[in-house]
Amino acid sequence: MSSRFRRAVFWLGGLACLAAAAQAQFSLCGTSGVGPFTQAQVDAGRSAYNSACAACHGPNLQNGSHRTPLIGPGFVVAWGNRSTADYFRYIQTKMPQREPGALAPQTYAAIIAYILAANGAQPGAETLTGESAVRINTIADGVVRATVLAETPQP
Ligand code: HEC
Repeated sequence: MSSRFRRAVFWLGGLACLAAAAQAQFSLCGTSGVGPFTQAQVDAGRSAYNSACAACHGPNLQNGSHRTPLIGPGFVVAWGNRSTADYFRYIQTKMPQREPGALAPQTYAAIIAYILAANGAQPGAETLTGESAVRINTIADGVVRATVLAETPQP
């Protein structure tokens, strides 16, 4: 499958989900719930994301030069049926793209907490690690939480 085709399918999936959610006034893409991460991880993750990931994925996780949004309905379409551990493993072994594995495990965990929170998951008492395995669409609905992004400096 060509990457252009894959991207089109990805976007159509996201748009269909968005349209359904707008019509029904709630998200059909996932459920918001308490995730296996803390507010302190979200805050640490925001600044780590800004230094390690924002150059390619955009300051608000959605408008990177590589057009690979990490937020919104597309996030739930792509990752909703997979676990936080799968997401951690993917990011740790592939990102940042030019130096995968370069960050400390706690830094990856914090960045993932930030991405999950920006997609609607709520912080709780548990600290996220690479072993935390919660299905993503049971905690994140893909409805963008602007307040989570709020501390992000705008370009
Ligand atoms: C140098 C640019 C660059 C940097 C820096 C970068 N990425 Fe990426 N990222 C990409 C590209 C390009 C892709 C698409 C890769 C592919 O499809 O194989 C991608 C894909 C992804 C995906 C998969 C998207 C999806 O939903 O399918 C995730 C998640 C991700 N990056 C997270 C991160 C995180 C977290 C960081 C920071 C630790 C980061 N990236 C840093 C370029 C980058």
